[in-house]
Amino acid sequence: EKQEKIYLIGISQLGDADAWRREMKEEIDRELVFNPDLKILYRQANYNSAEQVQQIRELAARKIDLLIVSPNEAAPLTPVIDSLYKQGIPVVVVDRNISSDSYNSFIGADNIEVGRLAGQYAASYLDKTGNIIEITGLPSSTPALQREKGFGDEIARYPHINVTVIQGDWLEGSVQRQLPRMKKELQNTRLIFAHNDVMANTAAAICKELGFPGIKVIGVDAQPRTGLEFVENRSLLASVLYPTGGGEAIRAAAKILHGQEAPKRDFLRTIIVDSTNVVMLQQQFNRVIAQQKDIVRQDGLLKEQARTFRTQKNLILILIGN
Ligand code: FRU
Repeated sequence: EKQEKIYLIGISQLGDADAWRREMKEEIDRELVFNPDLKILYRQANYNSAEQVQQIRELAARKIDLLIVSPNEAAPLTPVIDSLYKQGIPVVVVDRNISSDSYNSFIGADNIEVGRLAGQYAASYLDKTGNIIEITGLPSSTPALQREKGFGDEIARYPHINVTVIQGDWLEGSVQRQLPRMKKELQNTRLIFAHNDVMANTAAAICKELGFPGIKVIGVDAQPRTGLEFVENRSLLASVLYPTGGGEAIRAAAKILHGQEAPKRDFLRTIIVDSTNVVMLQQQFNRVIAQQKDIVRQDGLLKEQARTFRTQKNLILILIGN
C-alpha cells in the first residue's frame, strides 16, 4: 500500500495573545482538516522580533518543507527569511510583510486601501471639517506604514480636516500611556482613527472616562468576537475588515507543495463595517464557523469509521489466516 507523502509546514506567528491572531490560528486549524497530508509545527514569538528570528532558525533546522510567516517587524525578520528562501524552502508571508521579495506568495489585505477606506469614511462623517487623532500601529511593521499612507492620502483632499498622529504599537498600553495626557487636544477632537480595534476600543474607553463621549472612534480588523461586537454595541463608529488570511495561507502552502502555481500576491478583500452592515456580517461569520464545525465533526466521524473499518479488515485477515 502506497503511503501518501506528509509535508511539514513551519508556522512562525509573531505573537498570539490578541484576538485577531487567535482567529488566524483557528482559520489555519479549520483549513488543515481539508489537507490531511499537511502537518504543522507552530511557534509564536510573543511580539518579539529577536525571538521570532530564533524560532525561524529552529524551524529550518527541523527540516520543514515550507514556512508560513507573519513577521513582527520587516527589517529584523528579512535576512533570516531571505536565507531560508535562498536555501530553497518555499515561503508564504501573511499580513505583515518583509523588506525583500524573498517569498513565493504574500497573503493579506491591501493596507493602503484599508487606510483609504477609513479616510473616506472619516471625511464623510466629519462633513469635511474637523480634527482627527490618528493612532498608528508599530511603525516598523508594514501595515502601520501603509494604513497611515492610505489614510493620509485620502484626508489630504480635505483642507479643513487636521490630523494629529500619535505613534502606537498595536497594543493597548501604547494608547493608555499617551491618550489620557492629551486632554487639551481631545477637547477639539471629533474623531479618532486607530490602526486596529484593540487600540480603538482602548481609545473609546478612555474618551468616555475622561468625559468626551462625543468623540467617535474608527478601528481596523472587524473580527467576530471583538471589532464586530464593538461596532454592534456602538463603542466604535466603524471598523475596516481585515481578514486574517489563515485559511488562504494553508491553501497557498498546499498548492506550492503540490507543485501548483500560487499567486505572488493574493490581496484579500476589505470593507468598511458600521451600524448599517454589522449584523449581516456577524451572521455571515457565524454561518461559516458553524459550517466549518460541521465539517470538522463529519471528518471526525469519517476517521472513526475508517478506524472501525481497518480493525474489521484486520480481523478478517486474522480469521482467514493471512
Ligand atoms: C494583531 C494585529 C491586528 C492588526 C495586524 C497588523 O496582532 O495587531 O490587530 O490588524 O496585527 O499586522
